[in-house]
Amino acid sequence: MKFLIINGPNLNLLGKREPGIYGQNTYDSLRERLKAFAETYGSTAECYQSNYEGDIVSAIQDADGVYDAIVMNPGALTHYSYAILDALKAVDVPCVEVHISNVHQREEFRHKSVTAPACVGQISGLGLYGYEAAMRYFLERDQR
Ligand code: DQA
Repeated sequence: MKFLIINGPNLNLLGKREPGIYGQNTYDSLRERLKAFAETYGSTAECYQSNYEGDIVSAIQDADGVYDAIVMNPGALTHYSYAILDALKAVDVPCVEVHISNVHQREEFRHKSVTAPACVGQISGLGLYGYEAAMRYFLERDQR
């Protein structure tokens, strides 16, 4: 499978950013880990990160017909980006939403995802493993 992994605002600061919540691993190490993970399944994982909503909308639009699945952590955009919601609805690429932290244990504003309704499902609170769990879902779902 061809995966597109999208990470939104501030996720480039993984490792430095609130390590008590998001862990010690850097964004570069996450990329390496996901690429290697995909390879063990004969798949590829392209990783894209942006701090800009419009760039993420364009990445989703451009994924149509190119990637088999999107695994996306929209960061704070999760909680208010109707543009990302609409972009996900506009393309034929299924998406699983991932949050490193358990958003339901945190501030009230993080409990609501406006983007999740356009996703197959949502994973929250499993740390970086959530990205791999989402990829495994796509890898295995057609074999059941
Ligand atoms: C996050 C949770 C969001 O509320 C936050 O704004 C992030 C990261 C997570 O991975 O836990 O940037 O999506």
